[in-house]
Amino acid sequence: MTHSFILDRRVNSLAGTAKLAGRIAELLKPGDVIALGGTLGAGKTAFVRALVRQLAQEEIDVPSPTYNLLLTYDFDDFCLYHYDLYRLESPEEAFELDIDEAFDTGVSLIEWPDRLGKYLPEDHLLIKIDTEDGANSDVRIFRFFGAEAWRQRLADIGVDDDA
Ligand SMILES: Nc1ncnc2c1ncn2[C@@H]1O[C@H](COP(=O)(O)OP(=O)(O)O)[C@@H](O)[C@H]1O
Ligand SMILES: [Mg+2]
Repeated sequence: MTHSFILDRRVNSLAGTAKLAGRIAELLKPGDVIALGGTLGAGKTAFVRALVRQLAQEEIDVPSPTYNLLLTYDFDDFCLYHYDLYRLESPEEAFELDIDEAFDTGVSLIEWPDRLGKYLPEDHLLIKIDTEDGANSDVRIFRFFGAEAWRQRLADIGVDDDA
């Protein structure tokens, strides 16, 4: 399966990140796996928080799963699994965190996806988040990578309207 660059988006603020997350929230379906790349403080958790709030249609509490490694949110169409695997000690340990069920019937958003090794599904969407070079700013660059199916699903995400 070819995993290639699909598109990128630059946002100027947390609100811009939330807007982009909202667009992604609209196209999710059961079985989707989204890997979130980027260093500490890039905005992975902020992205998931905005996405969950869009789905919930309210400002619910969305903490970082730093210690639990997994936090779940029940929606009508699927359960959303929010992973932060930074502290995962071996890829196999992830089976104790319900990845079978998550990848099969849930929607999974995974911070530190490399920790899963070979268990990260081939057909995942990778979203890499970067800050601008050395800048202490709210600008973030989102780069999307995936196979053809994701390219098609993201085709309608629209033009880059900086927020
Ligand atoms: N455009 C932006 N998108 C996301 N986070 C932003 C943005 N601008 C500033 N921030 C700040 O950057 C930090 C991102 O933290 P967090 O989402 O926990 O990162 P990560 O989960 O990648 O370690 C937060 O303090 C957030 O307020
Ligand atoms: Mg985080």
